[in-house]
Order: sequence, then structure tokens, then C-alpha cells
Amino acid sequence: MTHRVAVIAGDGIGPEVTAAALDVVRAAGVDVDVVRFDLGADRYLRDGHVLDDDDLERLRACDAILKGPLGPPVGDTRVPPGTIERGIILRLRFAFDQYVNLRPFEGAGVEFVVVRENTEGSYAGEGGFLRKGTPHEVATQGSVNTRFGVERCVRYAFDLAMTRERRHLTLVHKTNVLTFAGDLWQRTFDEVAGAYPDVTTAYHHVDAACIYLVEDPGRYDVIVTDNLFGDILTDLAGAVTGGVGFAGTGNLNPDRTAPSMFEPVHGSAHDVAGTEQVNPSSQILSAVMMLEFLGEAEAAARIRKALDHVRATNPTPSTIGALVAERL
Ligand code: IPM
Ligand code: MN
Repeated sequence: MTHRVAVIAGDGIGPEVTAAALDVVRAAGVDVDVVRFDLGADRYLRDGHVLDDDDLERLRACDAILKGPLGPPVGDTRVPPGTIERGIILRLRFAFDQYVNLRPFEGAGVEFVVVRENTEGSYAGEGGFLRKGTPHEVATQGSVNTRFGVERCVRYAFDLAMTRERRHLTLVHKTNVLTFAGDLWQRTFDEVAGAYPDVTTAYHHVDAACIYLVEDPGRYDVIVTDNLFGDILTDLAGAVTGGVGFAGTGNLNPDRTAPSMFEPVHGSAHDVAGTEQVNPSSQILSAVMMLEFLGEAEAAARIRKALDHVRATNPTPSTIGALVAERL
């Protein structure tokens, strides 16, 4: 079966790491029909284009999206903050209802997965300015939490926990201070838990979870949390388990009403583009998650195994893609 994969190669090291990931996918014998989309900071600087309805419709026609890192070099002020983030990345997550941001971590002797709510919370874009630019200026940025949005994410996390050996799920929030949003999350979590008697549960405040992640990450199996806590926690989790260079992400639409999107956790790292330091591991792992989502579990498992083997040989980072492809 041929999968129609939209590829947004991205900025900085993006083209190199997405090319490596596609080579690996093909070397594993998976048939992909690649549809390329020229989107990101480079494109914006060239002609001002960010992402329009036509792009969205063409992306929607694909089975999945493999996205490289997007963004200008650090300190480049020609791209206003939010242009790429809100204009492309979040727009895609929201438009395609990719309500689960799935981030598995493995390294330093631990293995756990974070289920981050991906369409709501403080990412929703609620808020605005009053009296902007005056001494009495006001900025608000609310966190939007719907029962529907929280429940579908929490259910996904319980279902995922059921597929794992330890069957343990931790809710991370800040219920002691965010008493409205936290209450909705906690009540939803507790209610859904009733349908999963085989899953053991825990609750941690997000600040405490930061300590546990550093001091005792082995206590985690599956974590479920809101959008912003999940953003922060997963960078920390990446750092603790060997660096965000070794973590992949699935922005999943579990209902499959639109394509899901797979991207590395790291950024575009313009400073190392074209050098031996370009490490495609995170992009390859994202492609592996894509294959798993597309029903190519066998090929995905073979790639994982080959990547583990190659990593253990301590290769020059930029050669990892070719070495993995060769092994397959
Ligand atoms: C991530 C990134 C994004 C986020 C940005 C680039 C919008 O940090 O995928 O974690 O905040 O979700
Ligand atoms: Mn992030």
C-alpha cells in the first residue's frame, strides 16, 4: 500500500533531517508518495507566504504529514514572533484536530510517554489587549479547557496506558492554584478512571513533577497533561533522557478525520546546518511514529532496532541516516 505523505522539509537543518528520515522509511520497504510543501521561515522571508486555505486543503488530502523543524535562526528579527508558530504549526494542529501531542521518551534507563493536550489550554489564542501601547495597557491570555477536549485527551491516555506493561497513568496539573481548569481536569480524570480499573493512577502538581522527572523519572509510565504544562515538561523530559535530539512527536488526530503530523521535538538549529553535527534521530523517530500510525508496525519496529544499533556505535551524527538505511 502506498502512503501519500506530505513533507514540510522545514528550515535550518530541516531539509537534511527530513531527507534522512525519508531515506530510512524507503529503505525499510515502505511505499511513500511524497507531496512537498514549501512552508516555513525561509519561504516567509522569500515571498511573505505563511499558510493559506489552499495549502490546508492540499495537506488534508494526504495520509500524514512529516514535518521538519521550522523557524528562523535565533535572533533573526525579520520573522515576527508567532508568525511560524501560530501561523503554521498551531494552525495545522488545530485545523486538523490533532488533539493528542504524543511524546515518548527513552534513555538514561527509563521509558515513559507524555500525552499532551494539543488544541486547547493557553495555546487556544484566547485573550487580547486593552489600551495597547499606553501606560495603562492590559494583556490577557486565557486558558481554554472544555470538557469535550479534556475528556478525549484523558481517554486517549487511559487507552494508551492499557496497552503498556505497567498500566500506570499520572495526571499533571496545578489544581491547587488553577482551581477552575484544574478542577475540570481532575474531575474528568477521576470519572474516566472509573472505566479503567486496571490502570493505576496518580496526580502530581506540575512543579513537583519537574523535580520527579529529574530525580526519579522511573516513577512515570504515562503522563497526561495540558498543552502548556506538556510543552514545558516534554523539553525537560527530553533533556533528562538524553536530549530533545532523541525524541519524536506525533500530533495525532486519533479519530482520523484529518491527517496527523509528525515532527521532531528540537528546533531548526541553523547554526549547525550542513555540518557533521546534524542529527536526524528525532526526525527518524517521528517518521517511525508516523509509520506506526499508518499501520506499518513491522517496518517501524525494524527501523527502531536499526537506529538503536547505529546509535550504540557512537557515529558522527550526520551519518546516522545513511547508516540506518544501510542496515535495513
Ligand atoms: C513544541 C514547540 C511548539 C509548541 C512551538 C514551536 C509552537 O515548542 O512542539 O513543543 O510550543 O508547541
Ligand atoms: Mn516545545
